[in-house]
Amino acid sequence: MRGIISTKEMLLSAQQGKYAVPAFNIHNLETLQVVVEEAANFETPLILAGTPGTIKYAGGEYLVAMAKAAASKYNISLALHLDHFEDVAEIKQYIDMGFTSAMIDASHQPFEKNIVMVKEVVEYAHTHGVTVEAELGRLGGQEDDLVVESKDSAYTDPLAAVEFVERTKIDSLAVAIGTAHGLYKGKPKLDFDRLAEIRSKVSVPLVLHGASDVPNDMVRRCIELGITKVNIATDLKIPFATAVKDYFQHNPDANDPRRYMMPGKVAMGLVVIDKIIMCGSAGRA
Ligand code: 13P
Repeated sequence: MRGIISTKEMLLSAQQGKYAVPAFNIHNLETLQVVVEEAANFETPLILAGTPGTIKYAGGEYLVAMAKAAASKYNISLALHLDHFEDVAEIKQYIDMGFTSAMIDASHQPFEKNIVMVKEVVEYAHTHGVTVEAELGRLGGQEDDLVVESKDSAYTDPLAAVEFVERTKIDSLAVAIGTAHGLYKGKPKLDFDRLAEIRSKVSVPLVLHGASDVPNDMVRRCIELGITKVNIATDLKIPFATAVKDYFQHNPDANDPRRYMMPGKVAMGLVVIDKIIMCGSAGRA
């Protein structure tokens, strides 16, 4: 079926095929257009992700309508995902609105409280055909309004992950193995052994957050070791903003968004292509 779908089939297929589905954070019409157009060109399965900040900015109704329009225009399937939502009531509200996948991020809560919150989302989501991702351990860095100091970050414990997945019945697990949201100071250090151990013990698809600014070969290694969803935000924002700033520098009197947004879209599109190739997802739609 073409249109807006859950991540269920696409992540299980990725797990079997040993590639990853890119989850691109979008913010507005332009970023959604770029991502969907390249996804269609490269025939990749696709997840469009929106944080609470994005939904506050763009409006959930607009995002659902634009995602549906995009799927229909290109005759493709894509998932529309709630990224890093911490409020269970909000998740339910956006599931009712048409989002097909949700991340409940209760990773800052104690283990038992994390489980209680995730279970409530899973029960609601699964009766609506919506898939659920949750995080165990905690990523450092900044994702929109979510800021986690590195002293508060924590790696995923493989044994706790087994219990977490069994008790919550989540569809995918976000792991903390050394990636962080945003840019890194120096080369990121990833705990590949931990990832391999989690993969050997946990059966559901695994998610890598904070994939921006991580060298492609390191992300590919994560995919070989079992990551099936790769989240990318910062690496798309930077070229877009840089190209638009550059445009204004050369055209200080510009005021037409149809012109000044264009270089941003082109620059972002090139990065989207690079990420699709990195994920190995081209031709898998
Ligand atoms: P980056 O901004 O580091 O790419 O992280 C994106 C992310 O993990 C979204 O959930």
